[in-house]
Amino acid sequence: MLTQTEQRLCDAAISARHNAYAPYSKFKVGAAILDEFDNIHLGVNVENAAYPQGSCAEAGAISAMIASGGTKIKRIAVSGVGTQLCTPCGGCRQRIREFASLKTDILICTDSQFKKRFNLEMLLPASFGPDNLV
Ligand code: THU
Repeated sequence: MLTQTEQRLCDAAISARHNAYAPYSKFKVGAAILDEFDNIHLGVNVENAAYPQGSCAEAGAISAMIASGGTKIKRIAVSGVGTQLCTPCGGCRQRIREFASLKTDILICTDSQFKKRFNLEMLLPASFGPDNLV
């Protein structure tokens, strides 16, 4: 169901999740991106006492990728907790869209294991991206 690299990416998201800063929602999320150089970049949600200033795990992982010189999301894994799948929020689907192809797989994990594979087109159909400009 997962390649070895994908399993490693899921494990990275699952373990990063423990470092999330989510004292308000208590909902910790971890994300791990595999870039075009096969480097892995981690992100976690970082909340704030001024609630709207909080940021999502996926946004953090994208920032880490860009800061390290990566430009393409080959795969992304997201780890959350609870009975519902922790799929990226609408804003993060659009953030992923900027650096991924519509066929890019998004691997959704619980706090301990991989659960479900989507591609970006499934989560963000008829989307607007960089190629829509000009
Ligand atoms: N959150 C993420 O970090 N990523 C998601 O895909 C869904 C939601 C965070 C935002 C907030 O800190 C907490 O989870 C509850 O919404």
